[in-house]
Amino acid sequence: MTASPPPGSLQGQRLLLCVGGGIAAYKALELVRRLRDAGAVVQVAMTEGAQQFVTPLSFQALSGQPVRTSLWDSAAEAAMGHIELARWADRILVAPATADLLARLSHGFANDLVTTLCLATTAPITVAPAMNHRMWLHPATQANIATLRERGVQIIGPEDGPLAEGESGPGRLSEPEQIVAALGSAAAVPPTHAGELAGLKVVVSAGPTYEDLDPVRYLGNRSSGKMGFAVAASAARRGAEVVLVAGPVQLPTPSGVKRIDVRSAAQMREAVFGAFPADIYIGAAAVADYSPRVSVQNKIKKTGETLTLDLVRTPDILAEVAAQTQGLKLVVGFAAETENVAHYARGKLQAKRLDMIVANQVGIAGGGFESDQNAMTAYWNGGERDFSTAPKTQLADALMDLIVERMNA
Ligand code: CTP
Repeated sequence: MTASPPPGSLQGQRLLLCVGGGIAAYKALELVRRLRDAGAVVQVAMTEGAQQFVTPLSFQALSGQPVRTSLWDSAAEAAMGHIELARWADRILVAPATADLLARLSHGFANDLVTTLCLATTAPITVAPAMNHRMWLHPATQANIATLRERGVQIIGPEDGPLAEGESGPGRLSEPEQIVAALGSAAAVPPTHAGELAGLKVVVSAGPTYEDLDPVRYLGNRSSGKMGFAVAASAARRGAEVVLVAGPVQLPTPSGVKRIDVRSAAQMREAVFGAFPADIYIGAAAVADYSPRVSVQNKIKKTGETLTLDLVRTPDILAEVAAQTQGLKLVVGFAAETENVAHYARGKLQAKRLDMIVANQVGIAGGGFESDQNAMTAYWNGGERDFSTAPKTQLADALMDLIVERMNA
């Protein structure tokens, strides 16, 4: 294990440290210092139990930020509401994560500030457990850990060794520098990749589009935007100038990314072309294929037994982008399919004249549109690469590796 955190490995990351109520909470003080040394901006939230071991004032002094201790603090809520705080975070780190906290997290509780933040965030979550070894080895705790891991939560430790109660076994909180190193490797692009897109401009589309039928109704789809946002974040970490054209989603803007919010396919097209010239276009948005011929001013009233909507094709933004390759080095599309994934994806690769298409099977449990994780395959002329199930943030990094590879091929 590295002796000290790689400096800058968490540069600019907004990290929300949630401190649980165990004796190891004292180590979380040192953790704040190490996280900041690695370049992270740290805000701290504490459970009630944590405040029995360490004072909020200590964390405030070390983080340089106000510390949140309760859901019911009206002054703190007025400054930054807990939902805003959950959105602010690029990553949540729970350390120490007690057996009780792991149980509540795995079951989706929201009965205090920390569990509510973890439930309300779309950011990746890391937990560093610490507890008595018998509690750690208990089947209930192990089942909770398995659930969290399956959900894409990163687990760091615990370590084997002497415990506070004079016993020995697995249950020690990992050392702060180990936690920082593990976070760095999960979150950051390896230093060898860090500047590889410097000087290049990347335009990414993400999320669904909403096509308005009337003032209260629209045609939409279940795209979460998570993949496109993760791809944009990965490109920015590699030094690219990134414009993210986002459909209607409530995700935080990745650091270093210029975001343009749009609603409809027509608005998305305008924003994408407005962002050009660029070097790379990644069309991760689930753009509506059809839009109402007219969006009426007044609410459509129910009259007959059936209603027929008159829809017209939207412009295929991706195909249009690929057709005007002037200056573009690489055009990448996505294909969401429910069957015959490879066949349809390769068809779109040819028909839209793309450099690469990334296909994933939607409509299956544990992956696809609304999930935090996914599995996918990238196809290009003469090759393909499988990406096995992983959190979308990790897939995005692996995909960006391939994009850089293909661009230089
Ligand atoms: N796309 C686009 N503009 C559209 C429709 C799709 O830019 N009007 C892009 C998406 O961003 C994605 C790719 O095309 O990168 C594939 O979208 P998908 O909906 O899966 O394929 P379609 O070409 O629309 O075909 P179908 O819906 O028949 O599967």
